[in-house]
Amino acid sequence: MYHSGLEAPQGIWWKPVHGSEKVWATIAFAWCLVLFAMMPFWHLRGGQNPSGIRHRVDPVAFRTRVTEFIEEYKVGTDNQIPVVEPPPGSHIYLQGAMWSWTPVLRLKQGAEYILHLSSVDVNHGFSLYPLNINFQVVPGYDYGLRITPHEAGEFQIVCNEFCGIGHHLMVGKVVVVPSDDEQAAGTTVDTAAAAVATEGGSR
Ligand code: CUA
Repeated sequence: MYHSGLEAPQGIWWKPVHGSEKVWATIAFAWCLVLFAMMPFWHLRGGQNPSGIRHRVDPVAFRTRVTEFIEEYKVGTDNQIPVVEPPPGSHIYLQGAMWSWTPVLRLKQGAEYILHLSSVDVNHGFSLYPLNINFQVVPGYDYGLRITPHEAGEFQIVCNEFCGIGHHLMVGKVVVVPSDDEQAAGTTVDTAAAAVATEGGSR
């Protein structure tokens, strides 16, 4: 029979909640609490945390430092972008600017570097393909990351923060040269956490 919202249905039309439904609601609620607790726990303990040394930097000073860095370690050019090969353990610099990443970094597999990321104009996004590694590149801030490339090969740096008309053209490159004792085929990187060794994380 048709009922409009204006007249109440006849008799007792509702049924008490079934026992199994209460059990499922309890399980779902308990799981919500577990996931909620995981947020702060994982923030403190998770291997995904970047080493994140962040300092203020004047964009002009950063650009000057990048230029010095290029002059010191330049080994060639790639599509007019300078290629640098800094020694393992050194501080390395990557500048995001509308619409390029400078320079191309040639790194050694298994060696640690301190990567300084900054922008000299607007916000850019550092995204390393095909690995899933993403960082904000913010003008006025130097984002220092302790990195150890575990996998040899060529990696694309894609800008993942819309930065104007040339955003889609903002593609850079990192080349990881296989180390002498470790063959490229033998190593893989399965997560961002494995590729970016963290300083304050669980390791
Ligand atoms: Cu830089 Cu989008």
